[in-house]
Amino acid sequence: MQVKPNELIILTNQKSQFKIFFSPEMEFSCHKGSIKFGKILHYGELVFTNKNEYFLVVHPNSSDKMFKVNRSTTIVYPKDLGMLIIELGINSGSKIVEIGTGSGASTFTLANIVGEKGKIDTIDINQEKQEKGRKNFARHSKFQNTEWHIKDLTQEKLDTPAADAVFIDIPEAYNLIKSIRCLLKDGHPIGILCPSFEQVKITANALNEAGFTRIRCQELLERKIFVRKNSTRPADMMHAHTAFYIFAEKVADKDLESVLKLGIRQTIE
Ligand SMILES: C[S@@+](CC[C@H](N)C(=O)[O-])C[C@H]1O[C@@H](n2cnc3c(N)ncnc32)[C@H](O)[C@@H]1O
Repeated sequence: MQVKPNELIILTNQKSQFKIFFSPEMEFSCHKGSIKFGKILHYGELVFTNKNEYFLVVHPNSSDKMFKVNRSTTIVYPKDLGMLIIELGINSGSKIVEIGTGSGASTFTLANIVGEKGKIDTIDINQEKQEKGRKNFARHSKFQNTEWHIKDLTQEKLDTPAADAVFIDIPEAYNLIKSIRCLLKDGHPIGILCPSFEQVKITANALNEAGFTRIRCQELLERKIFVRKNSTRPADMMHAHTAFYIFAEKVADKDLESVLKLGIRQTIE
């Protein structure tokens, strides 16, 4: 498959890798020498530097794309987004509300999964940050399935049909939980990124009071393994704590009062 201009490519020689946006006119330089690409480049092929060192051209995965964004904010870690996609049941065709566009790393990855039949409504209070997110989106997604909103949902309403899932990645998400209930279909999931134990407690309480059930919190630790001849072992550094994630499902409005009156235990272990 031919690489198109402006596409992200990975140049790898097994020991190191470089992530670059391909342009036929460009000259790429590194400690192994320089490469003039020319017009035609294919995924999977070998290219050689002027010092006769080789690189393989490979296609980027979602994690490569996320780490390559021009950041104006922290981004969701790919390992965490994987968990979020499973817990929120996100598929081709899903309709999602995302609060906190930021650098757009989670927005374009979700948009690439839900595809042309799905939809993302992404909201930020900060226009400048969302603009950067939109630029990153344009580089990493071909879909026109995302609507961009500048709003403070504690003060304003979002006029959109109830979504299959809501994802919140903003500081102090607990302030928003009551007001965004109406954005989610009954019985459907919400996922919230929490940076600290303190926020986990406040957020879980807020979910409980706002009529959510099956409230659970989890984090993922990612340990890479160096696969080497005669010395395969875990890496000495790892992406351990990046964030906690709280998940829950929405109780229908008609049963909200009964659930609160019954004092049903709404967290699970
Ligand atoms: C950590 S960033 C989101 C990063 C994004 N998930 C990514 O992977 O690139 C948080 C964003 O939330 C926005 N934000 C903060 N408070 C907000 C609020 N009340 N409503 C909407 N967005 C808010 C900030 O402006 C910031 O852009």
